[in-house]
Amino acid sequence: KLADIKGLKRGYLRLAVITSAKYLAPHLLGRFCRLYPGVEVSLKVTNRERLLERIASHGDDLYILGQPPQGLEVEAYPLIPNPLVVMAARSHPLVNVANIPLKRLLEEPFIMREPGSGTRDALLRLFETKGLPAPVARMEFGSNEAIKQAIVAGLGISVLSLHSLVLEGTSGPIAILDVQGFPIQRHWYVVYPKGRKPSVVAQAFLEFVKQEGRHIAENLDKEMEKIRRLRSAKP
Ligand code: PGA
Repeated sequence: KLADIKGLKRGYLRLAVITSAKYLAPHLLGRFCRLYPGVEVSLKVTNRERLLERIASHGDDLYILGQPPQGLEVEAYPLIPNPLVVMAARSHPLVNVANIPLKRLLEEPFIMREPGSGTRDALLRLFETKGLPAPVARMEFGSNEAIKQAIVAGLGISVLSLHSLVLEGTSGPIAILDVQGFPIQRHWYVVYPKGRKPSVVAQAFLEFVKQEGRHIAENLDKEMEKIRRLRSAKP
């Protein structure tokens, strides 16, 4: 299919993604633009709630988000897994503890994403389904990066996408805690409104990300395997 649109000379692609996909989207766009140097792109990064509003108002050509939206008619293509993990400062006392009960997290100060965040919803849902009270946020930030800084500063623990550690890796200043019920298995989808034919550029990008997604998923598997090995190496 890609070959059909290889001749694509110019065009404009408007992409909007949820916050954790911002770690991936620039890489995808970079490679895409090398394939199609005449194409210009814009990238909007926002939380799930805002992204759903943009889909409803046809703000962009394509969207990358977590679970496909309910109540909005969209075509959705699964892209790659988006595991949500518990993060703490490397010096945190729970760092080398195996199989921490979920309930134990309620004793820790929590740094939470803002209301409207899909990450936050997934976290609250996990506690709810286990019949536990919701963790109380010591602080709420609308940015994964600000949360990571706060974790390193020792202000608390948080639950974020594993993708947010793409630059520093899982053995840097932020450690992943081995907590029961984690990782929360989320997934990313590329979507566009049903009945609205994507532009030629958007179709090219869709085909491109479907292929790229397979490679990225393999790398992610390796990262998860590393975490599992660390786990089983614990006393
Ligand atoms: P968020 O979404 O950026 O709104 O937290 C993440 C997700 O839905 O997986």
